[in-house]
Amino acid sequence: MDRTPIGEVTNQVGQTVKVTGWVHTRRDHGKIVFIDLRDRSGILQVVFVPDNPEIYEQAQKLRSEFVVSIVGQINARPQKMVNDKIATGTVELLATGLEILNEAKTPPFEIDSNQESGEEIRMKYRYLDIRRERLKNNLIMRHKIVKLVRDYYDNLGFLEIETPALTKGTPEGAREFIVPARLWPGQFYVLPQSPQQFKQLLMVAGIEKYFQIARCFRDEDTRGDRQAEFTQIDVELSFVSQEEVMRLTEALMLKLIQELYPGKKIAQVPFPRLTYAELMEKYQSDKADLRKNKKDPEELAFHWMIDPPMFKRSEAEKKLVATHHPFTMPNPDDYQQYPDQPEKWRASSYDLILNGTEIWGGSIRIHSQEMQRKVFSVLGLAEAEIQARFGHLLEAFAYGAPPHGGIAAGLDRIVAILQNEESIREVIAFPKTGDSRDLLMGAPSPISRKALQEANIQLAAGVAAVEGFDTALAD
Ligand code: AMO
Repeated sequence: MDRTPIGEVTNQVGQTVKVTGWVHTRRDHGKIVFIDLRDRSGILQVVFVPDNPEIYEQAQKLRSEFVVSIVGQINARPQKMVNDKIATGTVELLATGLEILNEAKTPPFEIDSNQESGEEIRMKYRYLDIRRERLKNNLIMRHKIVKLVRDYYDNLGFLEIETPALTKGTPEGAREFIVPARLWPGQFYVLPQSPQQFKQLLMVAGIEKYFQIARCFRDEDTRGDRQAEFTQIDVELSFVSQEEVMRLTEALMLKLIQELYPGKKIAQVPFPRLTYAELMEKYQSDKADLRKNKKDPEELAFHWMIDPPMFKRSEAEKKLVATHHPFTMPNPDDYQQYPDQPEKWRASSYDLILNGTEIWGGSIRIHSQEMQRKVFSVLGLAEAEIQARFGHLLEAFAYGAPPHGGIAAGLDRIVAILQNEESIREVIAFPKTGDSRDLLMGAPSPISRKALQEANIQLAAGVAAVEGFDTALAD
């Protein structure tokens, strides 16, 4: 017999079905054994009565989180026994067959309650934490959001295109993760901080409308809204204005909330647009939390931040650095009016802020060699360094680069805010801790001498490699 997902049993009253899943709870009431059986789609009450001695005896061995397969009849519950806390509360299953598929140790925290337990233990046993309502729902909603986003761009003629994870440094302001190139001693790949240069190259390639659900890597300190590895909704268009990118993004956010979070209230539509200067004057920050009641979990307050300065002075390095990234087009009026005073240029860039958190950021890009060189030189790059780091991009601009622009969102941040979670860790299946460890897999970890040798890496004095971790496990 095929299994019936628990979510579908309510319309099978009177029929015999097979259900499978985990023992959520077990209660003995006099002679009757009740279990709540859980699968991904729901929870179902199963009843074992002594009339069927063999199965009844087995049922008494059941413990929380045992994996079982049960056959039985779906019966309507008497009116006064209806449980409106669960979706299957009008029915129960009278068991006539039971097979224990696997036993389970007592979990380190309760699966059947969302009672807080230490985050370290939850992360070490992430596969148990994901069995609980809270994380499971977060992952379900994340899936729905990604699906809606994909359909949205697909309907508008965008192509989803994958870009490499082993690449060359692209400056987005964070430290980079590096990967030694075994075949090229002394040389390294860099994991992308974002697909920025590739999406621009795709515009040069004539793709016109691109998007990607893209994994990004930034070796920066982790906090509630930051992970070293995170996901962007990455978007780029050719022949586009700032106005169009903002409208496209705003319409996506409205659709997403309307369809997936109809209970939420948006403070103001269209989203207010505030200049960087206005924000700094009023809120001393380039992002403001415009909610009327910050305690209301259903309130969403968006605002755009536009016209930020193109450069800011880095005190550490005593020079100018880009506020968005160095591929952003300066405001054309400012550039014309103050060609030699880059500190006065505003950037053609825009961020979308939700409840005080930056969720999207983008810009119109430079598409001419001359302007790109100028910006690199303002940033203090000498010609040799420009060539070594960005020669490929400048060269591409010489082959008919269309005007283009785009934007990218922090997907994890969007899901976390909509799910009323404080930290993006709660909406990532396998996140890293505050100090960037994966407690479940035990990463990072030392690697073998042989692997180091092959990668041409010598460890600094006092740092140990491990011996004997080289057993081949697959051909
Ligand atoms: P930016 O660096 O602003 O722009 O990143 C875009 C969005 O990504 C999210 N984000 C993060 N989320 C989680 N953890 C992190 N460490 C992290 N860093 C950034 C934020 C941010 O708004 N290539 C450009 C986009 C463009 O110009 O089109 C870029 O990456 O929500």
